[in-house]
Amino acid sequence: MTPVIAETRAELAAARAGVRGTLALVPTMGALHEGHRSLIREARRRADTVVVSVFVNPLQFGPGEDFDRYPRTFAEDVEACAAEGVDIVFAPGREVMYPEEPQVTVKSGPMGERVEGATRPGHFDGMLTVVLKLFLLVRPDLAVFGEKDAQQLAMIRRMVADLNVPVEIVGAPTVREADGLALSSRNRYLSADERGTALALSRALRAGADAVAGGPDAVVDAARAVLDKAASAEPPLHLDYLVLVDPGTFTEIPGPYEGPAVLAVAGRVGATHLIDNLPLQFGTPKEH
Ligand code: PAF
Repeated sequence: MTPVIAETRAELAAARAGVRGTLALVPTMGALHEGHRSLIREARRRADTVVVSVFVNPLQFGPGEDFDRYPRTFAEDVEACAAEGVDIVFAPGREVMYPEEPQVTVKSGPMGERVEGATRPGHFDGMLTVVLKLFLLVRPDLAVFGEKDAQQLAMIRRMVADLNVPVEIVGAPTVREADGLALSSRNRYLSADERGTALALSRALRAGADAVAGGPDAVVDAARAVLDKAASAEPPLHLDYLVLVDPGTFTEIPGPYEGPAVLAVAGRVGATHLIDNLPLQFGTPKEH
């Protein structure tokens, strides 16, 4: 089935008018890969109608980031959506999403300045602004996001709670290549050698997870040992951060600690910024 393609607000409203039952939105910036397809399948399982948005949001890219060269593969994206039974692809141009320079935007607050936000100032403000606009335009019952962008997911959950946005937020697990590399639209920038170095990110997370019985410090030390090696590989990994954080607030976890945590890592290989994370549990999970 070929999805309806809506490029304008009027086309989206017309496609939306015929919808019955629950509607799920999967917001994307296109360049769809198996990770996105798993989000779409999760949406398909949960809702009668699935909308995928494809919009490379200029507001969430900083100066010197890869907005201009971000992969744009719309024809393939529509094919992937058709194969997954998507009903509507919302693909607005910049003039549809931002007819004027926005004056009022979402502020991500202190949480948006931590971890990934500290290396990409303004990123989470731009991301939350477009997600809220997409929610208001598409009016979904639920929206599905990847756990690969753990801080993004936590920030969206927080926005929805703080601003009473009536959308259920669903997280879907990270999809990895057989060798552990987390799928990302940016992986296509990597040369074979750069990809070899990039594997250190997922290896570091695994090493950290294997050390969980030793507590937070042991986890970070084990992960750091892997990343230190990659820093002197050819090509090298330039580490942005390795942190063990509270999954809800992204504040760093001091040892000793019992409860859920996220081990998050980001770095640059060549010109490519990559992130990855792994959820961890210290001690026995609390019964609810
Ligand atoms: O994860 C992404 O692709 C983007 O940050 C999102 C959620 C589509 C907003 O532009």
